[in-house]
Amino acid sequence: MTSYSSLITTSRDRAGNDPIFIWNGEARARAAAGDDILNATIGALMNDDGTLSSLPTVIDTLKRLTTSAVGGYAPISGLPSYREAVVRDLFEDGPLASQATAVAAPGGSGAVYAAVVNFLDIGQKMLVPQFFWGPYREITNHSGRGLDPFTMFDEDGAFDIAGMSAAIDRHLETQGRVLLVLNFPCHNPTGYSLTDEEWTRVTDVVHQAGQRGPVTVLIDAAYMEFAGAESRSWVPHVPRMLEHATVLVAWTASKSMAQYGSRLGAIVGLHADPDELAQMDNALGYSARATWSNCPHLGQLAVTQLLTDPDLAAAVTEERAGLMTLLQNRIDAFNSRATTLGLPTPRFDAGFFVAVFTPDEDATAAAMRKLGVYVVPIPGAVRVAVCSTPESTIDRLTSALEAGLAAVR
Ligand SMILES: Cc1ncc(COP(=O)(O)O)c(C=O)c1O
Repeated sequence: MTSYSSLITTSRDRAGNDPIFIWNGEARARAAAGDDILNATIGALMNDDGTLSSLPTVIDTLKRLTTSAVGGYAPISGLPSYREAVVRDLFEDGPLASQATAVAAPGGSGAVYAAVVNFLDIGQKMLVPQFFWGPYREITNHSGRGLDPFTMFDEDGAFDIAGMSAAIDRHLETQGRVLLVLNFPCHNPTGYSLTDEEWTRVTDVVHQAGQRGPVTVLIDAAYMEFAGAESRSWVPHVPRMLEHATVLVAWTASKSMAQYGSRLGAIVGLHADPDELAQMDNALGYSARATWSNCPHLGQLAVTQLLTDPDLAAAVTEERAGLMTLLQNRIDAFNSRATTLGLPTPRFDAGFFVAVFTPDEDATAAAMRKLGVYVVPIPGAVRVAVCSTPESTIDRLTSALEAGLAAVR
């Protein structure tokens, strides 16, 4: 055997797995060995019996559409009907629909990737709030870009819009362009959703900054449907952003249709200038061809029907409402105990996760593991996947969080 490594330097010593899957793996191994484990690391909505929640209408539709035809390739940018259905899902028949294009992508992850490689040059950085979905780091790093987090919360626990504004100014000065990610509503990992007033103020900043250079706002809407009536609270702010900026939306069926493994998403681009929109559409299609080539044909057909057939859409909404009730009961129980115990958390109205702040996330998570409770340590906090913890376990979960925080005081 030779001693040469053919791997290029930057590909050596890479973590082959997401840290979340590593903690999840350890929790499962201990449970299989007979330990009494509470696993709050899993980022998927689970039933109280530990099985994956699903939407029967989605499964039936996938089964019904499984024919030989779906073995054929879908178009590079996605089935036209799918692309149209995604745009209508977000903007209905409103004026934004005519300023938007959707290009199929393998989940929200693919959408984020497409945004990064088309709206940042190599060497430039993407702006994210300080608490962020971990893979933003890998996606930007892997493509020769980088990540630049800004302080997320101000002293009052509200979104730090002044910090965001300063970061935008800095990027305009230092790299001549901005790609800002806003993963709202139901931010992963904190659980925070922007209020309407916060969206207005964010929009004001974008409106101002976009007059000084190219500014792109990527709304990562992965958990949008779980915000209920607030799911599209950001949409009314988009027209004002578009006066001077580009808006992208990372759309995914992973959570909204409980189809994490089907890899069904889209990158939606919005621009006020039709020529620029056509440029964006071509660029996003080019990225698809150059990476995943095309997206699952069966899933695109299914999602199209599920979004556009009124009976199917109503059934999905009703079934999802059942899952939202399951989740909301857990959130209410969590918030009530967090208040009693004085756990430091952001406002948490909806979504899969909440963050509990800690000065030493590794020590807090380690102390919790001793109690058999698994959460994910992230810089400055531990992430608690309420989506995978039954309501009956919330007392144990919050007591472990209290103990985990006491261990670092
Ligand atoms: C914030 C955020 N964005 C995007 C995604 C992408 O998910 P997927 O690629 O499965 O659609 C996730 C999934 O966990 C997420 O949490």
